[in-house]
Amino acid sequence: MRKIVKTSLALAAVAALSLTACSSRTADTTTPAASGSASAAAAGFAADSLVGVALPSKTSENWVLAGDLFTQGLKDAGFKSDVQYAAASGTVADQQGQITAMVTKGAKVIIIGAADGAQLSTQVEAAQAAGAIVIAYDRLILNTKAVDYYVAYDNFKVGQLQGQALLDGMKAKKATGPWTIELFSGSSDDANSAVFFNGAMDILQPAIDKGDVIVGSGQTDIKQTATAGWKAENAQSRMDSLLTSTYNGDKTLDGVLSPNDTLARAILTSVKGAGKDLPTVTGQDSEVESVKSIMAGEQYSTINKDTRNLVKAAIQMATDLSTGKTPDVNDTKSYDNGVKTVPAYLLPPQIVTKANAAESYANDEKLLAIVKAAS
Ligand code: BGC
Repeated sequence: MRKIVKTSLALAAVAALSLTACSSRTADTTTPAASGSASAAAAGFAADSLVGVALPSKTSENWVLAGDLFTQGLKDAGFKSDVQYAAASGTVADQQGQITAMVTKGAKVIIIGAADGAQLSTQVEAAQAAGAIVIAYDRLILNTKAVDYYVAYDNFKVGQLQGQALLDGMKAKKATGPWTIELFSGSSDDANSAVFFNGAMDILQPAIDKGDVIVGSGQTDIKQTATAGWKAENAQSRMDSLLTSTYNGDKTLDGVLSPNDTLARAILTSVKGAGKDLPTVTGQDSEVESVKSIMAGEQYSTINKDTRNLVKAAIQMATDLSTGKTPDVNDTKSYDNGVKTVPAYLLPPQIVTKANAAESYANDEKLLAIVKAAS
C-alpha cells in the first residue's frame, strides 16, 4: 500500500512537471531566484568550503565526464570536493548514504544528479536543515521543497529536437509517408524521461494524428516505451520483441525515437541482428561511439549537450553562493517538482547530424577529430 501511494505521488509529480514544461516555453529572462536557503546564500561561506557532488551510476558517457570535470573544476575554483557515484546496482540507497555523509562532513553546497528523483527528499531536507544549499544537476529532484536550484540543458527542447530529427531523417530517406516508427523513452525513475518524451511527442503527435506517422506496435504510452535503468540491454530486448511481433517478413520500420545514444546503439544492434534495413534513429549525449555511427551513416542524430558547460554552470552557482551572490537563473516557471517550482538555469541543447557535426563540435577537440577522420 505504501509503495503504491509513493509511486502515484511520484507519477503525479512527473505529470505536473511535464505539464508545466509543456505550457511554458519562454525561458530567457534572467531573474533572481527565490531560494529555500536564501539566508545561507545571502551570508555566503568560506571560499575553501566542501562542495559535495552526488552523481548517479555511469549509465551514459556524460556522467563519466561530469565526475572528472567536477573534481578538477571545484579544485580550480578553490573548493574542497567530495565527488561520488551511486553504484551500478542498489543505486538509490547508495546515493542516499552518500548525500547523508556529505552533510555530516559539513558540505556547504551539495550538487546532485539524482539516481531516483523521487527518493531523495529525506536526505535533501536534512542537508538544507544543516545549512547546505542543494542544487539538482541535470535531473530534477521531486516532491520536496529542499531543492534550491536546478541546472540542466533544456530537456523539453531536447525532446522536440529529437522528434523533429526523426521526421527529417525519415523524409530524407523516403520523401512521402506514411512512415512507421517505434518509440522508446528513458528510465521512469529519472524525471527527465517524461520531459524528453513529451517534448518529442509535441512534434510527433500532430504527424501521428494526421496519419503521416504510424506507431507500428501501437505502443505510445510512456509506461510501454520506458527503458528501466536506462540500460542498453533493456532497450535491445524490447526492440527484439517489437521486431518479432510487428516487423516480421518485409514489413518496414522507418524510424525509432531513442532518448539517448546508449539506447540508440542498442536499438541499431537489435535491428542489425534481425537483418533489416536500418531505420532513422535519434539519440542524445554525443557519445564517442554514436558520433562514429553518425559519421558512418548508421545512427541519424544526437544532441550536443556539452558536459563541460553544464559542470561549469553548476560550479559557478557554488562560487556565487560562497560570495553571497544569488546565482543567475533563466527559468522560474517550467520545473515544478510536485511541491515547488525550482528556479532553473537552463542551457540550450543542439541537434547534431552528419551534416552539421563539424560545426557543432568545433570547440570539442576529441569529437571534432572523429568527425574529421570520417569526412
Ligand atoms: C540525462 C541524459 C542521459 C540519461 C542516461 C538523463 O538524465 O539527461 O543525458 O543520457 O540521463 O544517463
